[in-house]
Amino acid sequence: MTHYTDKISIETSKTSKIDTVDFDNLDFGRLFTDHMFVCDYEDGKWQTPKVMPYQAMTFEPSARVFHYGQAVFEGMKAYKDDEGKVFLFRPKANFDRINKSSERLAMPAFPENYFFEGLEALLKLDSDWIQPGVGNSLYLRPFIIATEPAISASPANNYRFMIICSPAKSYYNAPVRVLIAEEYSRSADGGVGFAKAAGNYAAQFYPTSLAQEKGFQQIIWTDASTHSFLEEAGTMNVFFRVGDKLITAPTSDRILDGVTRKSMLQLAEDLGITCEVRRVTVEEIKTAAKEGELKEIFGTGTAAVISVISAFEHKGELFEIPEIEDSYAKLFKKTLLEIQHNISEDKHNWRYEIK
Ligand code: COI
Repeated sequence: MTHYTDKISIETSKTSKIDTVDFDNLDFGRLFTDHMFVCDYEDGKWQTPKVMPYQAMTFEPSARVFHYGQAVFEGMKAYKDDEGKVFLFRPKANFDRINKSSERLAMPAFPENYFFEGLEALLKLDSDWIQPGVGNSLYLRPFIIATEPAISASPANNYRFMIICSPAKSYYNAPVRVLIAEEYSRSADGGVGFAKAAGNYAAQFYPTSLAQEKGFQQIIWTDASTHSFLEEAGTMNVFFRVGDKLITAPTSDRILDGVTRKSMLQLAEDLGITCEVRRVTVEEIKTAAKEGELKEIFGTGTAAVISVISAFEHKGELFEIPEIEDSYAKLFKKTLLEIQHNISEDKHNWRYEIK
């Protein structure tokens, strides 16, 4: 059946896959809900958006995205409380960021009303896919690709904005072991490191696969010019706890302005925990580890939530970080999840209810 809201055409799926899903055993990002949101940019403007059954799509082999990687994306989550109410977390931050990413990749800005109407329409249709309970969520992946069939190296005239949704539990099932980058770089001054550009992630796959061969799941990237400052891990921003104080790198044109990172800074203030936002060297962290002052490292991100980093290696030196009783990572994770799941007070107005 197709009906129209003010701006969106909605075609609902005749069948649902939901009964085939084992919600207790989800592999991150492999299963998608029954519907998706699609909006095309043609003739210089975004056309009427559609919600339609999740399905494969066809593109010409010459579509620019396949040749030049003109593509950006976002990561968001929807949560359900015990009464069945559905919430997003700080969605305006994702909306602002996708347009910032698009601008850097010479792509057109997406309209705010379409972004929110798309999210709302999808979440209403697929709300059964959001399981209640802390630890469950629906991961939302808005993205934009250059669809114009033309292979000259210039920005496309046609694009497709889409949102697909995938039920999610945790991204990492155990504490993460990381290698500190000594040779490869994720981003450079004046580059696209701050953007959620698809190519930023692809460029990490090879160095990360080398790290994985050595038993590390992720890399903590360092600055490209000296490899001495700690920046971010591929899927998360990173926080270091030295004594009772947290340190995280400032965002820059090389580092992603993470929504969870931003929220951590506010929660640290609320919880009375000092968090210094400043450049932090590998040497400082190694010295702190040797002196027993490095208490924790953790990563923050939408998919990763707050993931403990239990060991790091740099220049052949391995440092294990023993688990501690009064873990900030645990405290922040609980505090954050309780806000996201409508269990605790939302004093910063971060929740966005889908009504
Ligand atoms: C997210 O946390 O949403 C991300 O985009 C990271 C992704 C590579 C899973």
